[in-house]
Amino acid sequence: MWNKIKQNLSASKIYFVEIFIVFVLFLFSLSFVYALSLTQFVSLSLITLLFLFILLYIIGKKRKLEISEIKSIIESIRKNQFNSAEEIKLTTSLVDLEDEIKAMFLKTRNDIENLKKLEQVRTEFLGNVSHELRTPIFGIQGYIETLLDGAINDPKVNKNFLLKAAAHSENLNNLLNDLIDISMIESGQMRMSFRYFNAKEYFETIVNNMKNLAEAKGIELLLGEIRPKLELFGDKVRLKQVMVNLISNAIKYTDKGKVEVLIEESEDKGRIIVKDTGIGIPESELGRIFERFYRVDKIRSRAVGGSGLGLAIVKHILEAHSTKIMVISTIGVGSEFSFALKK
Ligand SMILES: Nc1ncnc2c1ncn2[C@@H]1O[C@H](COP(=O)(O)OP(=O)(O)O)[C@@H](O)[C@H]1O
Ligand SMILES: [Mg+2]
Repeated sequence: MWNKIKQNLSASKIYFVEIFIVFVLFLFSLSFVYALSLTQFVSLSLITLLFLFILLYIIGKKRKLEISEIKSIIESIRKNQFNSAEEIKLTTSLVDLEDEIKAMFLKTRNDIENLKKLEQVRTEFLGNVSHELRTPIFGIQGYIETLLDGAINDPKVNKNFLLKAAAHSENLNNLLNDLIDISMIESGQMRMSFRYFNAKEYFETIVNNMKNLAEAKGIELLLGEIRPKLELFGDKVRLKQVMVNLISNAIKYTDKGKVEVLIEESEDKGRIIVKDTGIGIPESELGRIFERFYRVDKIRSRAVGGSGLGLAIVKHILEAHSTKIMVISTIGVGSEFSFALKK
């Protein structure tokens, strides 16, 4: 009992000074106005003091109730006892706090969900990487073991097996390079250096360097007209990576016909288009091909040395240029990837 009173009083002690001053003032003004005698003053003081304690007790009790309500809500949030923000209810005197607590609850839950998602993405990524590494490593291992088991002396297959092992090791190398790129980009370590550059010269060099790749497949690689004075703004090294990825995809996924690189100028931009007459991409997959490791046809992609990371890298680099990759495609007719650069 005495303990409870003490607790309630101590909960109100932050108001003690103010209330005490008010009561002392009240006491003095009363004794001044009514010219009280000493005995009257002392008894009035005692009564006032009693009221003062009763008042402090009531305030303290109310305050303790409010604090314990807030405490229990915070504790319930901490222990995950709420399923939704609607379950958080405060009594009328604290109702102003309700919205804030609800917002905090939602934010905490959101943060936790994001962390969980991130963790899941990380695990998935690791799983994908191990899986991707396995294919070329098993390939190399398989051919080498077969050769060691005697195939090395069989002139009909030995060179072929070595070439296949070499192709797998090249895939492995490509995969590692793409992985290094993507981890640099995603951890924000990729430094960009934006400058104006001459478009004609730049795209001519890239396209000329890739002509062999197309010709080896019997496909034409063409570059459209570019105004000789056209200057575009971007990071030349990173944009080259974008172009090489888009052009090599176009070549890889085209069996006959041509791949064209075109530049369309508008008032303040140059749109770079890589267009092929290839296998096309189903509409349902268009949104997903920019995801890491996503391929429409895994077997075909691997067979042509794809890591499944190319378009994810392209997307990141273009985002760093404040632009977006666009794609239109028709199955069996061809695909068109494009993006705009500031001029
Ligand atoms: N020009 C294209 N024509 C048809 N399909 C394409 C083309 N470019 C990309 N794709 C599809 O998008 C997938 C993802 O491309 P990318 O990220 O470059 O990976 P990959 O290493 O497989 O080439 C490819 O596996 C392929 O299915
Ligand atoms: Mg690719």
